Parts: sequence; C-alpha cells; structure tokens
Amino acid sequence: MPSFVFMLRAKKIILGICGSIAAYKTAFLVRLLVQAGAEVKVIMTSEAIKFITPLTLSTLSKNEVLVNISSNSNWENHALIGRWADVMIIAPLSCNTLSKMSTGLCDNLLMAVYLSATCPVLVAPAMDEDMWLHPSTKNNLANLASFGNVIIPVGVGELASGLSGPGRMAEPEEIVLMLETHFKVKDDFKGKNVLVTAGPTYEAIDPVRFIGNHSSGKMGIAIAREFYARGANVHLVIGPVGEALPEGVHITAVTSASEMFEACKNVFPLMDITVMSAAVADYKALDVAANKIKKNEEDLTLVFKKTVDILKHLGSVKTDKQILVGFALETNNEVDNAKQKLVKKNADLIVLNSLNDAGAGFKHDSNKITIFDKKGGEIAFQTKNKKAVAIDIVNTILKYSNA
Ligand code: CTP
Repeated sequence: MPSFVFMLRAKKIILGICGSIAAYKTAFLVRLLVQAGAEVKVIMTSEAIKFITPLTLSTLSKNEVLVNISSNSNWENHALIGRWADVMIIAPLSCNTLSKMSTGLCDNLLMAVYLSATCPVLVAPAMDEDMWLHPSTKNNLANLASFGNVIIPVGVGELASGLSGPGRMAEPEEIVLMLETHFKVKDDFKGKNVLVTAGPTYEAIDPVRFIGNHSSGKMGIAIAREFYARGANVHLVIGPVGEALPEGVHITAVTSASEMFEACKNVFPLMDITVMSAAVADYKALDVAANKIKKNEEDLTLVFKKTVDILKHLGSVKTDKQILVGFALETNNEVDNAKQKLVKKNADLIVLNSLNDAGAGFKHDSNKITIFDKKGGEIAFQTKNKKAVAIDIVNTILKYSNA
C-alpha cells in the first residue's frame, strides 16, 4: 500500500457519501485521509447511513458527521461548509446523486453543500454495470465534467449484483492518489513571464460619460490565476471590473485602450507568453469634450477614431521565442473570422468564443471555446466554467510551446 503520510497536511476535505454498498470502503478512505494530515468533514445522505454508520465515520474523522440540513433548532450553514473546503470528494457517487448534481436538484444537505462549494469537486461513481452503461448516466457524467468536476474512473470487477463489469468505485488508495495529484504544486510554467490582459476598456466622451462594453474580466482573471498557480510570474493588465483581483500577480489597472497599450508595450519585451483576453474598444472619441455635453440638440453626432490594435502591434514586434495568444469574440462567420485574426495579427493561437453559443461570452460564468493555432491545429472544447476553460487554454499553450 502506498504511504500517504502528511501528503495532505492541513488540507480541508469534505467527503460526501451516497447510498451504495461501496460506502463501506469510506471508513478506509477517511482513515487514509486523516493519516495523510487532512481535516475531514463527512456529509452523508439518508440512504448512505443504511450502509455505514455516522458513528464509525465521526470516530475516524474526529468530526461530527452531517446528514440533515437542520436538526432540532440547528441549521447547517451549507454555504460556509462549501467555502470551508479545499476540495470536495463524493465517494461513492450513486446514480441518484449523480442525476441530482447534473440538474441541480437540491433536496438534502449533500446537494446544498455541493451547489455552494467554491472548491474543486471530485466524484468516484459506484453502480452496477447496466446503470453505468446507460446513456443517461453518460449524459449526467458529461454534464458534471462540463461543470469542471473531476470524474475518478470506475474499476472493473465484481459488482454488488453478482455480475462482473465496469462500475466499481475506485479503491480508497486510488482516490487518495488522485488527491495527491490534485494538490501537487504544478510548476510547469516556473520562471516564465506571462502577460494577461482582461476586462473592458472605457473611452471617455466627456468628463462624465464613456463608451464601454459588457466584459466582466472573469476569463482573463481565471487565466492569470491558473498561470500563477503553475509557477509563472504573471502581469495582469486589467480594465475597469467589479471582480476580486487575484493574489500574487502584478496588477496594472487601466481605463482606456491607450492606457492598456502603454502598459502592455512596456512589459512585452520581457514576456515569454502573452494572452490578450481583454475586450479592447476599437474606437475612441476623436475629441473628448472638455465639459459635460448638454442635451441641447435633438440629434447628437460623435466622431470616433480607431484605437491602436494592441494585439496586432505586439504581433508585429514579437520574436520567435515569444508566444502570443489572442481572443476572437464573434457573432457570425466565427471560424473564418477567427482564422483571419490569427494571420492578420501574427498571433500563435486564437481562442474563439461565439456569442451564438449558449453559456458563452461576457454575461456567463461559463464559456465555450475553440482554439486555432498557426500551425493549422484546431481544438473545440465543451461548455465549461471559466476556471475549467482557463485550464484548457493554459494546457493548450503548454502543448503548443512544447511541440
Ligand atoms: N484587440 C486589441 N486591441 C484592440 C482591439 C482588439 O488588442 N484595439 C485584441 C483583443 O484583446 C483580442 C483580439 O484583439 O485578443 C480580437 O479582438 P476582437 O474584438 O474579437 O476583434 P477586433 O480585432 O477588434 O476585430 P473586429 O472588431 O473587427 O471583430
């Protein structure tokens, strides 16, 4: 058996247990997690307690086991429990809870915590072969993957029905190994300088008004966080956003396209990788009125001039060693427009998101992207939350730079 001593030191782990015969294995799982230094809080469904007692698990976890949303006059604050954890594991994951997670059906504490959790979620399904192979199970698992949840593969072997096939819950040792991989500090961008732009720009038309756009900055912030987590030295140049800014990265807050241009131009020569996810204004007022424009006339005509195309400029000065990644936000003729931007702006990669895709673009926490590279590569991803999309983008950049 592998040794997990202190590998998960001080990690806060929620273990969700569903009704399945594999629930008996969670006693071993909790013991391994605690031995590895983790603090474990167990949440069980009312079906799970028929397979293994809360007393066993509270003894092993040294924490009270939670089952109900409320008991007597006590209400469990599912949001705080969800935010407490560094990671949530649901093992065994039954077909029933899988289906609820896929649709967001919230009828017990485990589901309330899952829906409130801001940490990564890993699931270890357990079911009989026919249930495992059913198309609805596959659809539900695909949904979970699109939310960014990690599916721990099932084992093949003897099942509760007496049949043999796929559907066995992963062994506790395998689950702990998955967690080790999850927490291992990845340093595949260690020593690399990375510039990320994010958010909108605002172009003033008079002292009180501006022209802007709906960019929230969430995608760029998620990309900056992912690079930082993987060891990069990250510079984030960000327009006006209401989002919390990431810790540990160098931040330059700008307002207009020309300020963003200046900030990028200054650091670009030192950068190994640049990702331009900002929604930069293409035009700014030819003349910014010195005083507030009064509504004297029936019609108002403003004259605009083009801003500098920052990506195009950086593409024209970049060296062969630098990797430049642009975004393309399109409403029509998406693929052709994205491919043209790749060439016109001399980028290495272009990340396309279409406003025609449900769940993609400015107003969502999720995004659906296709990445094109200048060697002719093309990869389409499913709709995912922006954190998971950031991981796909960073992984694709890594693959491209190693090719
Ligand atoms: N971009 C930039 N500077 C600008 C405009 C855009 O650096 N003045 C960058 C964006 O950050 C993005 C890419 O160029 O990485 C494509 O932006 P997008 O708005 O999709 O395209 P545009 O170049 O503005 O072209 P169009 O508006 O015609 O689609």
